[in-house]
Amino acid sequence: MRRCFKIIIVALILIASKFWSLSRSQCQFNEKVHQELWTTTSLSGFEPITKPEQPLIILFTTFKDDSESTHHRLAHKIVTKNWASFGLSFIKPVLFTNSTLTPKFYNLTAAIVANHNEPLFEASLSEIAFFYGWDLLPIPAVNIHGTPFLKPMFKKIFQTYNATFYGFASGDLLFDQSLIDSLIFIKRYLQHPLDNNVLLVGRRTDVSLYSNNTVLPLQQHQQQQTKTAEATITTGKTNTPKKIRKTKTPTKASEPVSLTPEIFQKFAEHFDKPNLAKLAKTGELRYIDAIDYFIYTRDGSRYNWTALADVVIGRAAYDNYLLAMANMMGCTSVDLTNTVVCVHLSKPGVSNTGFQNVDHHFNYRSIGQFDWRKGHTNVTHYYTENDNEGKPSKLTSRYEGGREV
Ligand SMILES: *[C@@H]1O[C@H](CO)[C@@H](O)[C@H](O)[C@H]1NC(C)=O
Ligand SMILES: *[C@@H]1O[C@H](CO)[C@@H](O)[C@H](O)[C@H]1NC(C)=O
Ligand SMILES: *[C@@H]1O[C@H](CO)[C@@H](O)[C@H](O)[C@H]1NC(C)=O
Ligand SMILES: *[C@@H]1O[C@H](CO)[C@@H](O)[C@H](O)[C@H]1NC(C)=O
Ligand SMILES: *[C@@H]1O[C@H](CO)[C@@H](O)[C@H](O)[C@H]1NC(C)=O
Ligand SMILES: *[C@@H]1O[C@H](CO)[C@@H](O)[C@H](O)[C@H]1NC(C)=O
Repeated sequence: MRRCFKIIIVALILIASKFWSLSRSQCQFNEKVHQELWTTTSLSGFEPITKPEQPLIILFTTFKDDSESTHHRLAHKIVTKNWASFGLSFIKPVLFTNSTLTPKFYNLTAAIVANHNEPLFEASLSEIAFFYGWDLLPIPAVNIHGTPFLKPMFKKIFQTYNATFYGFASGDLLFDQSLIDSLIFIKRYLQHPLDNNVLLVGRRTDVSLYSNNTVLPLQQHQQQQTKTAEATITTGKTNTPKKIRKTKTPTKASEPVSLTPEIFQKFAEHFDKPNLAKLAKTGELRYIDAIDYFIYTRDGSRYNWTALADVVIGRAAYDNYLLAMANMMGCTSVDLTNTVVCVHLSKPGVSNTGFQNVDHHFNYRSIGQFDWRKGHTNVTHYYTENDNEGKPSKLTSRYEGGREV
C-alpha cells in the first residue's frame, strides 16, 4: 500500500517536472522556487528572506554522478551543505548537472513549505543542493568520456550572474570563514592596484574521509597501512578518533557501512566549519602543483578565455595550465593558501582520484608542450598572509623585493 503510494507520488513529480521543463527554462524555474524558499521560510543558520543581487562569489562545481561510489556521494553531500552555509550573499553555489529535473523522492516545494530545516535524507544530490539554495544549470559540454569542459561553464557563469568573484572548485572541497575573509580582504585592493584583473588560487589540504563512520588523520592511516593489519577506530564523544585496536587476523577491506541519517549527522558535525582549521592541521597540505580552486574577476580581467585550450575539470594538468596562462596573459595571480583553510575530502589511501580515469591524459593532449613550473603556486604575483589573530592582513608581491601592497 505504502509502496503504491510512493510510486504515485514519484509519477506525479515526474509529470510535474516534465511540465516545468517544457514550460520554463531551468533557470527561471530555480528562480521561482528560490523566491518561494526565501519568502516562505527562514532556514535556521542559512540566508534569510531577501535574495541578494550581487554575491561576493559565485562558486560552481559539478559532481561525479557515480551511484556506486559511497565516497563521492558522501563527500558531495557534505560539500553541498558546506558551500551553502555561508549565506547566499557571500557564496552563491551553482551546480552543473544534467539530472536536475528528476526529483527522486519528494516534493521539494512541499518540503520547503512544511518548513523542514533539512532536506529529506534520501534526496538526490541535486535536490539537496537545490534545497540549500544552490542554482542548478545543465552541463554545457563534455568530452567523449563524459568529463565536463571548464570554459563553457565559466562562460555560462559569467553570462548568468553578477558578482565580485567567479570561481570553480572541485566538488570535494570544504571551506570555512577564512575563504570569505580572504575574498573580502582582496576586494579592498580590487579596484586599485589590482585593476579588477585577478586569478586567485590556493592549495588544498587532504583529510581522509572514511566512507563508514570513521575518519582518521592521514598519518594514522598510513601507519595503519604499513602495518597491514586491519585497524579499527573507535570514535568516542570527541570528534578526534584516538584509539586504534588491531584485530588478530587481517580481514578484507571493510564493506562500506550503509549511511543512515544518524551516521551522516556525525560526519556533518565532524566536518563542520568551526572544526576545519583543526582538521586541516592533521591533514596533508598538497604540493605547489596541486590547485583545486580558481577564482576570477570578469569585468576588467585580462584573462583571454578564447586563447585557452579546451581543458576538462578533474583531470591532470589543467590546474597548473590555468595559473600559468594567467601569469602569461598579464592577469594578476594571487596565492591564497596561507589564509584559506581548504579541506579536501580524500578517499583513504588515494592521493589523487583523477589518475584512475581513462581520460586521465586528456588535458595533456589539449594543452600540448608546456612549462608546468610556470603554473605552480609559488610563482603567483602575490600571496596573502594572516596577522596574529589569524585574519588576512598582508598582500605581498613575490617580486619587487617582497613589497607589501
Ligand atoms: C508540491 O507541494 C506544493 C505545496 O504543498 C503543491 O502546491 C504542489 O502542487 C505539489 N506538487 C506536486 C507535483 O505534488
Ligand atoms: C545537458 O543538458 C543540456 C540541456 O538539456 C544539453 O544541452 C547538454 O548537451 C547536456 N549535457 C550533457 C553532457 O549531456
Ligand atoms: C548584471 O549587470 C548588468 C549591468 O549592470 C545588467 O545589465 C544585468 O541585467 C545584470 N544581470 C543580472 C543577472 O543581474
Ligand atoms: C571503517 O573503515 C575502516 C577502514 O577501512 C575500518 O578499519 C573500520 O573498521 C571501519 N569502521 C567501522 C565502524 O565500520
Ligand atoms: C585572445 O586570444 C585570441 C585567440 O588567440 C586572439 O585572437 C585575440 O586577439 C585575443 N584577445 C586579446 C584581447 O588579446
Ligand atoms: C618554486 O618551487 C620550486 C620547487 O621547490 C623551485 O624550484 C622554484 O625555484 C620555486 N620558485 C620560486 C619563484 O620560488
